[in-house]
Amino acid sequence: MTQTASTFQTLILEPHPGVLVIRLNRLAALNALNDRLMDELQVALDQAEADPEVRAIVLAGSDKAFAAGADIKEMADKTAAQAMAENFITRNWERAADCRKPLVAAVAGYALGGGCELAMMCDIVIAADNARFGQPEITIGVIPGAGGSQRLTRSVGKAKAMDMVLTGRTIDAVEAERCGLVSRVVPLASLMDEALAVADKLATLPPLALMAAKALVQAAFETPLAQGIKQERQAFHAMFALEDQKEGMAAFLEKRKPAFKGR
Ligand code: CAA
Repeated sequence: MTQTASTFQTLILEPHPGVLVIRLNRLAALNALNDRLMDELQVALDQAEADPEVRAIVLAGSDKAFAAGADIKEMADKTAAQAMAENFITRNWERAADCRKPLVAAVAGYALGGGCELAMMCDIVIAADNARFGQPEITIGVIPGAGGSQRLTRSVGKAKAMDMVLTGRTIDAVEAERCGLVSRVVPLASLMDEALAVADKLATLPPLALMAAKALVQAAFETPLAQGIKQERQAFHAMFALEDQKEGMAAFLEKRKPAFKGR
């Protein structure tokens, strides 16, 4: 599927220098994540990743909802056979987690179920002070289906994860920051400015080193320590083959700003 920004129905793409803002745009359904939206998000991320002008991506919703979860209307009548045959969730949801470029989530309002899971697939989560996070799937007769039981537990530990996944309790932004689910909490009015400032900063940094750093932090959740350290050391050594390493260190020694080229 090749799409231009104007053909997306459930997303609004806002290009900034070096940064692409992808806004979820199903406001009437609190940005419930239906098949169309997840297909479009996959395409938007494919395009952003292929575009050398895009050095960082911000994923945002509205002031009321980042996303209130997978679309319950679309799921309610689904059979197990359909879910298996169409590879529900696996088909397109993990695209965000697989993105190699830095992904900043700007979360205001509800980030529930799949919305919380989507935020957790991002690298840096900036939460507005009105954000609410939760995995309420149990209250509608199911369980988290896009990584919630696994990523939440790795982020916040067993005590909070059990509390949230078993009871469906939602937590506010302050509790989310306290337990390690979000990177920072900011006033709602400055959410997009803060998220863009983070993305702007990322856009000035060496893109290949960012990719390597991101991949290593992600790997820390799946790798024994000694193996992770070994992977980091190999990647660190490989950095010395990049022009950006020479540029970054020369700029420091010459007391000037580096100009990284992604080479
Ligand atoms: N799917 C589909 N539609 C949704 C939705 C969802 N997840 N969440 C909200 N909506 C729709 C509502 O149906 C409603 O539409 P109508 O006006 O057509 O009735 C509209 O958005 C506004 O919602 P409410 O009237 O409910 O708004 P509210 O402010 O009273 O409540 C809310 C907000 C607490 C978020 C409530 O909407 C809610 O509980 N939503 C469902 C949250 C949820 O259970 N999410 C998990 C989904 S399952 C999942 O995500 C599985 C997975 O892991 C992949």
